[in-house]
Amino acid sequence: MANSKYAYVRNYELPDPLLPGCFLICRLDGHSFHRFSEEHGFTKPNDERALKLMDHAAMDVMTEYKDIVLAFGESDEFSFLLRRSTNLYNRRQAKILTTLTSYFTSCYVFHWSKYFPDTSMRYPPSFDGRIVLYPDERSVRDYFSWRQADTHINNLYNTAFWALVKQGGKTTSEAHATLRGTVSAMKQEILFQQFNINYNDISPRYKKGSVLVRVPQEAPEITSEHSAGQTVALQIPFERSTEEKKKRARTRTEVLHCDIIGDEFWMARSFILAG
Ligand code: GTP
Ligand code: MG
Repeated sequence: MANSKYAYVRNYELPDPLLPGCFLICRLDGHSFHRFSEEHGFTKPNDERALKLMDHAAMDVMTEYKDIVLAFGESDEFSFLLRRSTNLYNRRQAKILTTLTSYFTSCYVFHWSKYFPDTSMRYPPSFDGRIVLYPDERSVRDYFSWRQADTHINNLYNTAFWALVKQGGKTTSEAHATLRGTVSAMKQEILFQQFNINYNDISPRYKKGSVLVRVPQEAPEITSEHSAGQTVALQIPFERSTEEKKKRARTRTEVLHCDIIGDEFWMARSFILAG
């Protein structure tokens, strides 16, 4: 770049490195999706097409950014965990945040017609994003537990709310009033007693959200959702023999709708927090 008399303005551009040795979690959230979902006729309380579109965009992000070891999505949001030792863009905060956010957004738009073949996009959606640093495994696990607990709480509320409105003929304010102060068991009771809906029978996608993990190509399928998997290169967290590296060199990303609050998920995938 020519060293003109104007070049001094570059000195105003300050570095924005993210602390080393910490896990990075980047969470993207649909901007004003209350309106976007209304304008595009999303079904209530859950629109499977919209959720699968979110999963697809997140899958593309994981394919592009190999340092993402786990992603979790619900509603209009997705969280991406980058491995603790990632050196992506020299850990520059703005660079990581803006490229992930814009890539996710363009993938969402790019795949729209696959999931909404009969609904043209009425206006361009956008997503906000933030990166939070977590110093240890416990806080990373607690973060994902927080998001999954939120999925369950929102889904139970929304399922009961829309049953009261759509099947029970209540107005939205009456439905809110009915649910005010109720605990989880009471909402499940309302669903069962009044609408014959057993909450346990509701799709795990809605109750648990979407969990995107990398699995070796050779590994047995874990769920029936594997058709959504893609082949991506594996980040090898610790030293292995060349032969083993080769064998493990290719992975696919899998979409699960499983519990990530208990130990089982993490014990079976120690590589996620390995570094
Ligand atoms: P900001 O994120 O603050 O910009 O506002 P927001 O309107 O996006 O609200 P928020 O992120 O808190 O919540 C997401 C909103 O998206 C929900 O409240 C719903 O209105 C809508 N939404 C997300 N997923 C679905 C869905 O599957 N079906 C329907 N009908 N609406 C959905
Ligand atoms: Mg939102």
